[in-house]
Amino acid sequence: MKTNRRNFLRTAAAASAGALTAGAVSSCTNVAETTGAMPEIKAAALASHSQTFNMTGYGAPPLEKVRVGFIGLGMRGPGAVERMAHIEGVEIAALCDKYGDRVDGVQSMLAKFGLPQAKSFSGTEEAWKGLCEDPDIDLVYICTPWAWHTPMAVYAMECGKHAASEVPAAITVEQCWQLVETSERTKRHCMQLENCCYDFFELLTLNMARQGLFGEIIHGEGAYIHDLRFLNFDKNGYADMWRLKENQRNGNLYPTHGLGPVCQVMNINRGDRMDYLTSVSSGDFQMRAELEALAAEDPFYNQYTGKAYRGNMNTTVVKTSLGRTIMIQHDVTSPRPYSRIHLVSGTKGIASKWPSPQRIALGHSWTSPEEFKALEKQYTPEIVKRVGEMAKEIGGHGGMDFIMDWRLIDCLRNGLPIDQDVYDAALWSVITPLSEWSVANRSSSIDVPDFTCGAWKANIPVDPNLLTGGNTGVKGIKGSSNQLEV
Ligand SMILES: NC(=O)c1ccc[n+]([C@@H]2O[C@H](COP(=O)([O-])OP(=O)(O)OC[C@H]3O[C@@H](n4cnc5c(N)ncnc54)[C@H](O)[C@@H]3O)[C@@H](O)[C@H]2O)c1
Repeated sequence: MKTNRRNFLRTAAAASAGALTAGAVSSCTNVAETTGAMPEIKAAALASHSQTFNMTGYGAPPLEKVRVGFIGLGMRGPGAVERMAHIEGVEIAALCDKYGDRVDGVQSMLAKFGLPQAKSFSGTEEAWKGLCEDPDIDLVYICTPWAWHTPMAVYAMECGKHAASEVPAAITVEQCWQLVETSERTKRHCMQLENCCYDFFELLTLNMARQGLFGEIIHGEGAYIHDLRFLNFDKNGYADMWRLKENQRNGNLYPTHGLGPVCQVMNINRGDRMDYLTSVSSGDFQMRAELEALAAEDPFYNQYTGKAYRGNMNTTVVKTSLGRTIMIQHDVTSPRPYSRIHLVSGTKGIASKWPSPQRIALGHSWTSPEEFKALEKQYTPEIVKRVGEMAKEIGGHGGMDFIMDWRLIDCLRNGLPIDQDVYDAALWSVITPLSEWSVANRSSSIDVPDFTCGAWKANIPVDPNLLTGGNTGVKGIKGSSNQLEV
């Protein structure tokens, strides 16, 4: 029989009617809504902006002395005060926490070190504004819960201070733009305190990439895989349970530790840019169930039951303008060993930090421990040679926190551009809302805003070799918890 379009349609209709009559075949049509959820995130991601001043490469007027005010003195803040006290030219000028006893605790620490008392701000959720307004402060260092980072950094810049914020610097697309636009308008630095960019293997691989050891960079991987249940569910852990509440968003909630070092290797915002991303989350296999179990024992947890929590594992994949890919994972619930992955793969070789041991390969096999040692010696960057050993003694995640603080102060004292500027802060943080949108929309892709508004094509990459600056000294402190003697 000659098959023509009319015959075909007739046959198909008959077959379909037969199937319906028999009732034996169920429909498998799946017309899922793919881009309808969270339209406000998509709209913010696509909104147009323009650059008024390029903060990349900009060095603010040099400060001989850097007077630092700290906001947030919970688990993270006091260590930052102690590290800063070791840096030449730093004055611990002011301390703020909404809980006064936390400020008093750090004042006692200063007294133990033989350092003068700092100004105190506490008692209300808004007391930090007084610290930002204080004319005797140059840098506001923020270690508060995530939701406070952008309001505090923006207000600090509006008050003429440089701002350094713990990670992530922002939690919405709009906040990311607010940071960028405020920094450009006020010409104040806004640095995200991404300490992992200053870890030893990450700095080594950055220098190796700069010297061409890996060839052209093709792919990178980073992660924050850290079983934090012991803190997230603990009534005495994070202040007012703020981090547990943040886990009611479903996406990659803490992308910057894994992402920052990979972005620096790839010169993102400085020669390449993120184009789009897609993200998928597993189901929540533990959080809701664990909270229900806790509530059965302790009514305090009732307020956290019956709610949706993020999936255990989020995997986000970014495509860059130069055609590279970046994978970033987030899982702070599943019982598994810590990992930020830190994998860098190029046309000539690969580096991988986790699962340990940290390794390099320049072909089919990983280098031997002896070959690795030789490469390490050859490629250790100047910043590690200058302060690496002292940083290990002062500490802070094995020393990386101190290298970060020292570099920030050295840049401010020498009037140099900072390594992680406001565009990095915005870009590394924006992964959270964009991944949230993608997860809510069956992993559809979403464009990543270009916070540099095109300046990425000419911006100069970060160099770990201290071609300028590097002359800030490090001090020993009597009574400090570390052993440093200088
Ligand atoms: N980079 C890292 O390696 C690293 C490590 C740990 C924590 N962090 C980050 O540091 C930040 C703080 O974490 P944490 O573990 O110290 O949490 P935390 O809950 O122990 O401390 C937060 C502190 O902020 C204070 N605070 C809250 N709201 C305030 C307000 N309005 N004004 C003044 N103080 C306020 C709280 O009272 C508390 O003391 C978070 O952003 C976290 O993600 C980063």
